[in-house]
Order: sequence, then structure tokens, then C-alpha cells
Amino acid sequence: MTLAGRSLTTVDDFTTGEMEAVFSLADQLAVALHQQDDPCRGKIMASLFFEPSTRTRLSFETAMHRLGGDVISAVDIGATSLAKGESIADMARVIGSYADIVVIRHPWEGAARVVADYAGIPVINAGDGGHQHPTQTLLDLYTIRMERKTIKGLKIALWGDLKYGRTIHSLIFALAKFGANILFCPSPGLEVPEHIIEKLITEYGGELERYDSAKDKNKDRHFPLNAIYITPDSPHQLAMMPDVNIEVELKAGVDALYVTRPQKERFTAAEREDSARQKYAVVDKALLKDNAFKKTLVMHPLPRVDELAYELDTDPRSMYFKQAALGVPVRMALIALLLGVREVSIPEDTFVPKVSYPVYNRDSGIRCPNTRCVSVQETEIKYLRSGFKIVDHNPLTLRCIYCEHGFEPEYVASTDWHEGKLASRRYHRADSHWTTKIKPENLLIFASADQAEAHGFRPDHAVVQTQTKSGKAEA
Ligand code: NCD
Repeated sequence: MTLAGRSLTTVDDFTTGEMEAVFSLADQLAVALHQQDDPCRGKIMASLFFEPSTRTRLSFETAMHRLGGDVISAVDIGATSLAKGESIADMARVIGSYADIVVIRHPWEGAARVVADYAGIPVINAGDGGHQHPTQTLLDLYTIRMERKTIKGLKIALWGDLKYGRTIHSLIFALAKFGANILFCPSPGLEVPEHIIEKLITEYGGELERYDSAKDKNKDRHFPLNAIYITPDSPHQLAMMPDVNIEVELKAGVDALYVTRPQKERFTAAEREDSARQKYAVVDKALLKDNAFKKTLVMHPLPRVDELAYELDTDPRSMYFKQAALGVPVRMALIALLLGVREVSIPEDTFVPKVSYPVYNRDSGIRCPNTRCVSVQETEIKYLRSGFKIVDHNPLTLRCIYCEHGFEPEYVASTDWHEGKLASRRYHRADSHWTTKIKPENLLIFASADQAEAHGFRPDHAVVQTQTKSGKAEA
């Protein structure tokens, strides 16, 4: 087993064993960062950063230089041919013929996956919009592991913008894989998106306990805990008696508090207004006086704005500058492994996904509803096919293979009428029994009646009834 030639676009691309392999090579490299024997001499890394970055770009470039390799870069999307309307796929193919490895940050969710599909060389996602940031997660886990020796069974609180924070999204899945328990402490209105919760429960087999910190019996506590995710591998009594046991758990202490800034650049207009009105909760000395935080590692991917007080910088619990520094050996290890210039043994995977879903990629006109998704942004150019995992049949729920947003489509039909009567081509409501009756290989999915009719289908009886009813209601 080797990581050579592989890409890292989301944390799902690596097993726990493969992440451990990165950590163990990082351990070796960290000992003498300055004294490498140039294992990447003659190799070129393309560093493409189409969103602002300080740490991620410079630590990747430092990592490649320390390994003895070379770096070519583009940091302004307006100065590349993407601005002339070139597709991401064409850009990827071309860069794939210049470089040996690509690191890309792009504002569209799922963009790194498209680059990986076309570049023909290893691709590392350095942040794709609000979707994921898997290498930040590697260095976050590496820091936790260094300080606590393990990740399994730890209690990690995630603080702030859990809606748009891509570091948070990657971290959530990785922590779940390693068997940690996660406490969600979102700023109001910036809770973890539903599609992420849904994936945690179905794929990671975990349990979510809703919790209202306003009703907390400990009136001194002023951190906004609103949900707890529990992995099944570390059985808890929390699931049975949430209120009581959460109290007990918090008394036992939180292992790490992972703080994030409000990702204002991704806010909708309404969220911008809300954020101007309400204060984003701040982590400072006063908050850390809570007993739950006595031995807590205070983490942050940086940059910080106002959510993390400067007074904590000298506190021994603060880890954020250490995290940033550890980004270099972790990224050196990752680059060396993907380029195949170093090998380490890969421990067994400790996480087995609970399910694997069929993918729907028929061209029935259905599109991802997330306007920030690469599959929506690139459709004009017509090379990129939408694709969706069918994650539920009741109600029919799809998850985009690029940005992972979930949604429930409206209608279904069969390419092959189940009784062989193609003449009666009907479409049905997706929440009817037809969704399970139609054979998966024949299933057609539509977002609207117009789409179904454009494909030559007519409404079935139930659809006509609801259409008439809603027509009446409108009248
Ligand atoms: C993060 C990012 O870009 O997502 N920063 C980083 O990579 N260290 C977090 C952020 O911008 O808030």
C-alpha cells in the first residue's frame, strides 16, 4: 500500500491509517526540518491560490522548498485564463503537464475534485469555498495527537462559524473517523449544516443530542453549546440521559476548544445584517475560567479577528501558533508521500463507513441547488456532469458528489416502464412508493414538472391531483 499518485480533496480520501502514516512521517521530518536530503529535487509543485491565504500557501511552499523541490504559482484568478472563461478541467490538464503535484485553493465548492479528475497528477485541496480544507485538519489532528497522544474518545468543542468554516467541516468528519466526541458551540445562525449532520449520522453511525445551553443548570456557564455528536465506538450514557450526563461530561473537561472566525466573505446579505447586530461570542480568559476548560487546548486555524482574545497568547493552553508551525512538517510529509519519494508503513484503518451509496449521474437535467458548487458554476461550459449519491429513498434525498450539499428532488420516472408499457410514460412524486418500486438502474430523477415533461413524461394521477390542488390554492 502506498499513497504515491493519490490526491487529497476531502478527508474522506484518506483512511485513518493513511492519516497516521502522514503523521508518522511528519514526526520524522520535524526532527530536522532544515536538514533534509532533498527528496523532492527535480520535482515541481504548482501552487494555485485563488482566494486569500497566508499560512496555507506559504507553509506549502516552505514545505516544498525544504524537500528540495521547486514551486510555480498563480495567486490571482484574474491573472489566469480562468478569467477568460477557460474551464477548470482545461487548466488542470495543462498544469498537469508542467508540474508533478498541484495544491489548489478555489472559491467554488468541489473545485479541487474537478482538478483532481483532470490533472493526472496528485492534487491537494487547500480549501474549496466553504466545503473542506483537509490539510488544515491533518495539522489540527497532528497537534492534538502530539499534545494528548490520542484522538479517540477525546471531547472536542467546535466554536463559532460552523456553517461556513471549511476547516470545521473537514475536522468534524476526521474527528468522527478517529472516534472523538464533538460538542457544537455555534454562533447563532451559524450552526453546522444539515447535510453534514445527516452524513455524520448515516455514514459515521453516530448520534446527535440536541442541547439547549440556555437551560443549563450551571448558570455560570456562558458558552453556547447547542448539540453534541457522539461516535458509536465510544459508547456513552449521554445518549440516554442527555441533560444530566452532559453536565457530568463537561465537568470532566473539554480536551480541545477549536475556535473559528466568522467567515463573513461567505455570508448572505441577511447574515451580514445579523452579524452587524449580534455579537460573535469571544473566547477569552473569563470564558476559560469555566472548569470544563481547565486543561483545554485552545486551537484556531487562524487568521483570527475578534473571536480570540490576545490575552490568551501567553496562556500555556493556547496552541494556535504551534498549529501553524506544524503545518510545515505535516505538509512536507503529505507532499513526499503523494509524490512517492518517501514511503512509510500504513497502519490499518480503524474506521469502516457504515454505508456506501449508489451514485445517480443520468443526464435528466437535475442540478445541485447550491449556487457555490463547481457543478453549477461550470455547467455553462458543458463538460462537467452532475452526480449525486442517493443517500435516502424515503424521502428521496440526493447528495452532490462535488460540494456534498443534500436536497430532496420533486419527481421520479422510469426509463423502462415496469410493466413494459412505455407508451404510458408517467412521472411520479418522489415521495410516493414509486421511488422504491422503480429499479435503481431505471430511475430518472427530476427537480421540476417541467423537467420531467421536457423528457417526454406525463404526470401520474397523484401528481395531477397535487398540481390541481396547488393551482386552486394559488387561485
Ligand atoms: C482557514 C481557511 O482559509 O479556511 N485558514 C487557514 O487555512 N489557516 C480559516 C479561515 O480563513 O478562517
